[in-house]
Amino acid sequence: RKHDVLWGKANRGRYGDSNDDDKMKGVSRYTHLKEAKPEKKYEYVFDRSQEVEFTSDGDDDEPELTSEQRELEEKIKAEEARVRSIEETRKSLPVYKYRDELIAAVKKYPILIVVGETGSGKTTQLPQYLYEAGFSGKQKLKIGCTQPRRVAATAVASRVADEVGTRLGDRVGYSVRFDDKTTDNTVIKYMTDGMLLREFMSDPELLSYSVMMVDEAHERSLHTDILLGLLKEVSAERPDFRILISSATMNAEKFSTYFDEAPIFNIPGRRFPVTIHYTLQPEANYLHAATTTVFQIHLSQKGPGGILVFLTGQDEIETMAENLRSTCERLSGQMDREMIVCPIYANLPSEKQQLIFAPTGKNSRKVVLATNIAETSLTIDGISFVIDSGFVKEDRFSPTTGMQSLSVVPCSRAAADQRAGRAGRTGPGKCFRLYTKWAFLHEMPESPAPEILRANLAGVVLQMLSLGITDLIHFDFLDPPSPESLIKALEQLYALGALNEKGELTRVGRKMTDLPCDPMLAKCLVTAGDLGCCRDVVSIVAMLEESGSIEGGRSKKKAADNGPSNGGSSDPSASSGNISAMEKFRSRAKARLGGDHLTLLEIWNQFVDSGFSPQWCRDNNLQYRALNRARSVRNQLEKLCERLALESEEKGLDELDEDDKDRMRVRIMKAIASGFFANAAKLGRSGDSYRTLKKNQTVWIHPSSALFKMKPPPKMVIYNELVLTSKEFMRNCMPISAKWLEEYAPHYYKSTEPERGS
Ligand code: CDP
Ligand code: MG
Repeated sequence: RKHDVLWGKANRGRYGDSNDDDKMKGVSRYTHLKEAKPEKKYEYVFDRSQEVEFTSDGDDDEPELTSEQRELEEKIKAEEARVRSIEETRKSLPVYKYRDELIAAVKKYPILIVVGETGSGKTTQLPQYLYEAGFSGKQKLKIGCTQPRRVAATAVASRVADEVGTRLGDRVGYSVRFDDKTTDNTVIKYMTDGMLLREFMSDPELLSYSVMMVDEAHERSLHTDILLGLLKEVSAERPDFRILISSATMNAEKFSTYFDEAPIFNIPGRRFPVTIHYTLQPEANYLHAATTTVFQIHLSQKGPGGILVFLTGQDEIETMAENLRSTCERLSGQMDREMIVCPIYANLPSEKQQLIFAPTGKNSRKVVLATNIAETSLTIDGISFVIDSGFVKEDRFSPTTGMQSLSVVPCSRAAADQRAGRAGRTGPGKCFRLYTKWAFLHEMPESPAPEILRANLAGVVLQMLSLGITDLIHFDFLDPPSPESLIKALEQLYALGALNEKGELTRVGRKMTDLPCDPMLAKCLVTAGDLGCCRDVVSIVAMLEESGSIEGGRSKKKAADNGPSNGGSSDPSASSGNISAMEKFRSRAKARLGGDHLTLLEIWNQFVDSGFSPQWCRDNNLQYRALNRARSVRNQLEKLCERLALESEEKGLDELDEDDKDRMRVRIMKAIASGFFANAAKLGRSGDSYRTLKKNQTVWIHPSSALFKMKPPPKMVIYNELVLTSKEFMRNCMPISAKWLEEYAPHYYKSTEPERGS
């Protein structure tokens, strides 16, 4: 069979094909999650003794070119491809044939459901068609298009700006949280669904728009679901307004029913067959398995077909990218084509996003490492191979425990099939699933649960209340959330002081709705205004928004360069450079007293002192890009705080003398505690784990925290988020005093006294 030839003897049995019998029934593939040790970064070592034997296809060697010649050739090809592509790609897309019919349908029906395979041109073409057909009108009304993900909104907008031939931000623009690239000229506007929800507050009938396209509706993101209800109301008020709901091939009927039998426009797609391969045994470590599979494909497959790998998040993606690059350096003699590694995830800076769309020459192979963002929201051309970890990172909230946590969970079968489909867009493809067929059939849910059924609703409930929607139970939800989760959200908002006993917005609540942050962070800012420490708390909030990516440049590469010649280093101390870099800020921030929040503030203040210097970031092993983003977030938050008249002392923490410093530190920490009191946990008797005050659940300090293994451990902490890997870890922790809870959350903890004893 074909894949035997591909994989060679040594590797035979690693993958079966779709028809193989299940040999490992009942063996769970969650094992690797239990084994995960977040204390150590996973490190890939290419082991020569385990190298796979490959058969060759004969010697059709290409002529030898010098590296300069090769580079030149690629440059010319890429430029040719770029110039040629714009018009030709537009005309070659499946949606092009239906252009006139689509325009006619939008004219006729106020609400239209558009269904089509990913890559058929819905997102990039439909708004342009409508614009070309004059939907913008004399008044230059906007044609809007929402995306559940920020990366998709920005990437698509810059592509469409290219196609239209305008500068990004001119006729075509985007708006995502803390980043607005639109002007008065903008007529085609891409935005996140969350931003449109915010726009409803200032323009409840969307009068500046003539058309709104809700894209990726099948994803059923929380904000999209709320928007559907709001748009339905707008449509009833404004007969001229047009709504497009666009979706991949699932769920269309449901949308149609919801919108009173709105017609469904089907764009027939094109798809080449994709052969699916499963592992015969569960893989203990999908990162390792994925990396090895990339090299197996890269070394054995002729032709430049790209590889798309689905992982769960930024950390994994960056680790794997690093592993691929360093292994490539060591294997360079054996590779007949270059490997171009392109990461793509939600927080990737936009200047790096375009890389994944850039055409590659025939002497290289693109390896895209992506989260589920590449499932349907972004289409990458030239992919022939998909490697699927079978996992996805999901925010889950339990209304019964009130706990929210970010967990890696198996993706759905529908998602796995979407992922596989990415390999068959331009020709027949192959998909390698890093799990068994048994797991596919028995451990993966059929389709993903809509976010509204598993998310913490406090944020959207606050927004709905500020839009005047008070009867939440009777709001026209596509899938109504459970009454418990609505009640939980109201309770949380009440505890935060955003609502009064009657369920009306308070002064604090109104200020909170004007801040584009999670209600807990918004509350910290409002309290900071009352305590006069807004300047510093704004810095902390901005840094928290970026905290995942601030720690920089893994020292792994250096370790590999200096390391022994056995092909890499697995020395766990390789990342010690990072730890000591953070350590410096921690001691200055008196981390024992101020935890991760004040450490972040210390980093920010020194970044300011350095004059926002990239060199300073490099010297301290911090990511300039992340800090620079925090800077822009901070600037915008600061303006909002000024507008809301939230007060600041004249001097920030770093400008005060020692005595005043301590007092200021306490004020800052109180402000943080006033938002995060619900995330309080108390040191357990064993002295290493903590128990949450509200629900008595066992949680642990994350190894990346300043408070990790601190002696003596703080008696009580609050955390920013809970991350489930091998245990429930608290990330970004701050020690607090029990008195502050009495001060800022008297109702919250009093009402649960009886539960605490149990
Ligand atoms: O929305 P849908 O999945 O139907 O397709 P699309 O996102 O409009 O993409 C249509 C085509 O545009 C893709 O096949 C890509 O060739 C191209 N595209 C691109 O080159 N660069 C982007 N940033 C987005 C799309
Ligand atoms: Mg799309």
